[in-house]
Amino acid sequence: MNNNPHIAIVGATGAVGLEMIRTLEQRQFPLGKLTLLASARSAGKSLTFRNESIEIQELKEDSFKGIDAALFSAGGGISKTFAPLAAKSGCIVIDNSSAFRLDEKVPLVIPEINAGDTFNHQGIIANPNCTTIVTLMALFPLHQEFQVTRIFASSYQAVSGSGAKGLEELKKQVSQIVEGHPLTKEVYPHQIAFNVLPHVDEVLDSGYTKEEMKMENEGRKIMHLPDFRASVTCVRVPVYRAHSISVSAEFEKPIQVEQAKKVLDAAPGIDVVDDTQNNVYPMPLNVAEKDNCQVGRIRKDIAMDNGLCFWVAGDQLLKGAALNAVQIAEVLAKGA
Ligand SMILES: NC(=O)c1ccc[n+]([C@@H]2O[C@H](COP(=O)([O-])OP(=O)(O)OC[C@H]3O[C@@H](n4cnc5c(N)ncnc54)[C@H](OP(=O)(O)O)[C@@H]3O)[C@@H](O)[C@H]2O)c1
Repeated sequence: MNNNPHIAIVGATGAVGLEMIRTLEQRQFPLGKLTLLASARSAGKSLTFRNESIEIQELKEDSFKGIDAALFSAGGGISKTFAPLAAKSGCIVIDNSSAFRLDEKVPLVIPEINAGDTFNHQGIIANPNCTTIVTLMALFPLHQEFQVTRIFASSYQAVSGSGAKGLEELKKQVSQIVEGHPLTKEVYPHQIAFNVLPHVDEVLDSGYTKEEMKMENEGRKIMHLPDFRASVTCVRVPVYRAHSISVSAEFEKPIQVEQAKKVLDAAPGIDVVDDTQNNVYPMPLNVAEKDNCQVGRIRKDIAMDNGLCFWVAGDQLLKGAALNAVQIAEVLAKGA
C-alpha cells in the first residue's frame, strides 16, 4: 500500500462502519482520501471525517477504481458479491463478515496474535468474529506460556452485535414496557429487554449455533492450533455495547493464578482488572468505547487439572470489529 492510500468503507453508515470512521480519525491513520459507501438508502447523505463532510455514495460494481484498501462492513452477502470485485481491481479488502474467514487463501488476523499472516493475502483479509477476538486477546498470551488444549465458555453478547437494528430493538422494547405499550419484536425471536436469550445466530444440526462454532474454527486458524477445542454457549443479553465471555481453559502445563496475571499484565491490548474483594472486575459499561479489552475474575478452575477460569470483556464494535480492521490496515501500511 502506498504512503497516502485511498481508503473506502463499505457499510459506512452501520454500527461498525461509523466506528471505522472514528477509529481512522482517532488513530490518525495516514490516508490520502476516504470514500464512504453504503446502500442507495444512504446515498447523498453525509458523514464527517476530520472536520470535513464526505458524501456517501451508493455501492456499485465500479466503486473500487483507484481505491487502495476497503474496509467491508455491510454483511456477508455484500462481501461475497463485492469483495472479489474490489480485489480484482487491485484494492485490498479487509472484511468484517464471516464470508471468507475459513477460506484457506484468506488470512484471518488479530494483529496482536498473528500480524505476520496478513501478508499472505491474495486481495482479501478477514477480520475474525467479535466474540472470538475478545476471548483470544486473553487466551492467546496464556497459550503461549502454558499451551491451551480446550476451553468451555459462555458469552454475554451486546445487542449492538446485531447492528444498529439490535440497539433500536432494545431501546424500543424498554420504552414500550416502561410506558405500558404492547411489545413489538423484529430482530430477536423473543423479548430482549429484561431477558437473556441463549441463542445467537443460526442453529446447526449438532445443536450448537454458527456463532458458537466460530470460537473453535477461527481460534484454530488464528492461533495456528489445529487441535484446539472449544465448547461454547453464546447468549444475547440486554446490554447496549461490549461483549463479555466467561472462560474455563485447560492447559498442557500447570498454571498458577499469579503466573497467569503476570502473563496477562504484559500482554498487548488487554488490561488486568481483578480485585473481586473490592468489587473490581471487567464490565461492559467499563469497556464500552475503549480500545483495550479487560480480564478479571482470574482463578484456578477447580473442576479440571491445569485449568484457569477468567472473565474477559471488550468493545465488540471496536476491538471486535472496527479497531481490529484498522489495525490490520496499519500492518499493511507499515509493510512486511
Ligand atoms: N455489530 C458488531 O458488533 C459486529 C462485530 C463484528 C462484525 N460485524 C459484521 O459487520 C458487518 C456490519 O455489521 P453492523 O453491525 O455494522 O450492521 P448494520 O448496523 O446493520 O449496518 C449495515 C451497513 O451495511 C450497509 N448496507 C446494507 N445493505 C447494503 C447494500 N445493498 N449495499 C451497500 N451497503 C449496504 C448499510 O447501509 P445503509 O445504512 O445504507 O442501509 C449499513 O451501512 C456484518 O457483516 C457483521 O456481521 C458486526
